[in-house]
Amino acid sequence: MVEPETFIEEAIEEIREQVGDEKAVIALSGGVDSSVAAALAYEAIGDRLIPVYVDTGLMRKGETESIRETFAFMESLRVVEAQDRFFAELEGVTDPEEKRHVIGEQFIREFEREAKEAGADYLVQGTIYPDRIESEGNIKSHHNVGGLPDVVDFEGIVEPVRDLYKDEVREVARALDLEDVVAERMPFPGPGLAVRIVGEVTPETAEVARVACHVVEEETEKHDPWQAFGAVLGKATGVKGDNRVHGWVVAVRSVESRDGMTARAQELPWETLQRIQSRITGENDNVARVVYDVTHKPPATIEYE
Ligand code: XMP
Repeated sequence: MVEPETFIEEAIEEIREQVGDEKAVIALSGGVDSSVAAALAYEAIGDRLIPVYVDTGLMRKGETESIRETFAFMESLRVVEAQDRFFAELEGVTDPEEKRHVIGEQFIREFEREAKEAGADYLVQGTIYPDRIESEGNIKSHHNVGGLPDVVDFEGIVEPVRDLYKDEVREVARALDLEDVVAERMPFPGPGLAVRIVGEVTPETAEVARVACHVVEEETEKHDPWQAFGAVLGKATGVKGDNRVHGWVVAVRSVESRDGMTARAQELPWETLQRIQSRITGENDNVARVVYDVTHKPPATIEYE
């Protein structure tokens, strides 16, 4: 990549040329990719950019509040409370690809409504280079690549960070003075907590995964993993007080990686693992067991689905 400052100038110029006097929408996810794409587009066209954030119920703890704060300077920001609609669509769905599909479809419906209301002609996306590679190889269906453009009748798609790797996007984020929380955030998958829940996604499993992810992110911070989170695997037996209970099994995953294509399970200190275990079981009455995932990628993927 050229120097971040040069990249920013060129990206802004390109967006202005492409969008002209029209309006554009972008789906904000809270991740660094869409945040950088939104900031570049906002610099380029101001309030003619309408950033849309859909709360799917599968977002990180405190995500919606943090989005409102981070993007408070964009008066055109729209926040859609869609949790109940996502959970209703996900009822009974257990197949991983089906889950992604359901989430992708619902996301499109929510986003399409907002785009139409806003009268936007262009779609800005935070697609980065590895997304395009994995999509072309069809390793997994990434709902932030493909899908949207076919459904909404946009005049054009604008992808300002399409040729960058994740670490380059972070460099640009820093150069744009996006708060540290955005610049240094771990990558978060498009389908959200759903790919960290093996089996049915319900408000209950989503909440267990959300709390587990929050605890793991906090407790591993000083070990600087590339990505770290908790996942809900299913149920197993445990003891609470004098009773045997059937509670959730949470897997803790912390990996080192450059770009997510390959990864190594991180060697965390025992006391860190124990603190994670004690907080997750303490903060969730219905978690019976916490395990640590020691598998690299390959053969495992980073996420569980
Ligand atoms: P896997 O699990 O395939 O993940 O080893 C590699 C990287 O991609 C992220 N990931 C996704 N990102 N939509 C996304 O935007 C998705 O469907 C998706 N699935 C995985 C994952 O978090 C990791 O950083």
